[in-house]
Amino acid sequence: MKILIISYSQTGQLNELITNCTHRIDQADIDRIEIKPKNEFPFPWTSESFFDTMPESVLETKTELNPINYKHEKYDVIILGYQPWFLSPSIPTSSLLQEQSFLDRVKDTPVITIIGSRNMWVNAQISVDKRISAAGGKIVGNIPFNDSHNNYISAFTILHWMLSGKKTKKWGIFPKPGVSSKDIEEASSYTDVLNTAIQNNEFQNLQTEILKQGKITLKTGIWFVENAGRRVFKIWSILITKLGTTPKKRKILLTIYKYYLIVALFFIAPIVVSIFKLLILPFVYKRINKRKFYICSNKFEME
Ligand SMILES: Cc1cc2nc3c(=O)[nH]c(=O)nc-3n(C[C@H](O)[C@H](O)[C@H](O)COP(=O)(O)O)c2cc1C
Repeated sequence: MKILIISYSQTGQLNELITNCTHRIDQADIDRIEIKPKNEFPFPWTSESFFDTMPESVLETKTELNPINYKHEKYDVIILGYQPWFLSPSIPTSSLLQEQSFLDRVKDTPVITIIGSRNMWVNAQISVDKRISAAGGKIVGNIPFNDSHNNYISAFTILHWMLSGKKTKKWGIFPKPGVSSKDIEEASSYTDVLNTAIQNNEFQNLQTEILKQGKITLKTGIWFVENAGRRVFKIWSILITKLGTTPKKRKILLTIYKYYLIVALFFIAPIVVSIFKLLILPFVYKRINKRKFYICSNKFEME
């Protein structure tokens, strides 16, 4: 069995998740590759560089990657680890998904995705799924990991992490940002499920087995905010790239966008979500639950 494990991680969080998910895959020739952009994104980020990646993340603009040295021409399984950036696959990931050398390996190959996100990964996965399908591959399993704290708290703490470079408790009172140490450790509970599917070359029931562990859930309010955000991000990214034709103009637009995002996320979203939950959700509850189940099952036909 030839297995390609390919990923990008800035802080190493996703690497730990992948290692724990795959550590008991045996009797396999594993080629583990970490991709790197030619111009590496800064870590820690400055506030400016962080928000500056939004338009290109959303538009999935390709950046050049360092050459990738694959061991093999083809693999029996590909495990792709990635993280969302601004509700889209991170720029290194969407760039990899536009690299012909990678797409050739995806063709006719089962792909398993492992996601290390804050809590909004659905739209990124829809995009990754489309690109894998277009290349003739198929996603046969998806394991998303989240920060399980409240949406507003995790947005605040992740900014602390990204801008300071420290995965620590802000002011000693906020919870640690990102995927919790416990969830990272318990990621190893997926390793036998993956190993069995890979050794038997039988992926039909893989996602069902993954879901049986009962850890993958989608919170309705967060999903609602993500969907609304996705549409707004698209408009902003087109506006910023079309009108931000000089560094000065782009900087002004990005500053307006940054304050818009803070107000929208922390002040408008809670009100809109409460109204949605009170007035609309009771009437569409069943339909939403069905869609959530399809998404967790990695079936996006209903989208
Ligand atoms: C520029 C940027 C944008 C991000 N946007 C999102 C997002 O839209 N949804 C989300 O769940 N997490 C988001 N995150 C968090 C990442 O998905 C990820 O969990 C975090 O950066 C740690 O990943 P690492 O393994 O690359 O260090 C973002 C992170 C960065 C740096």
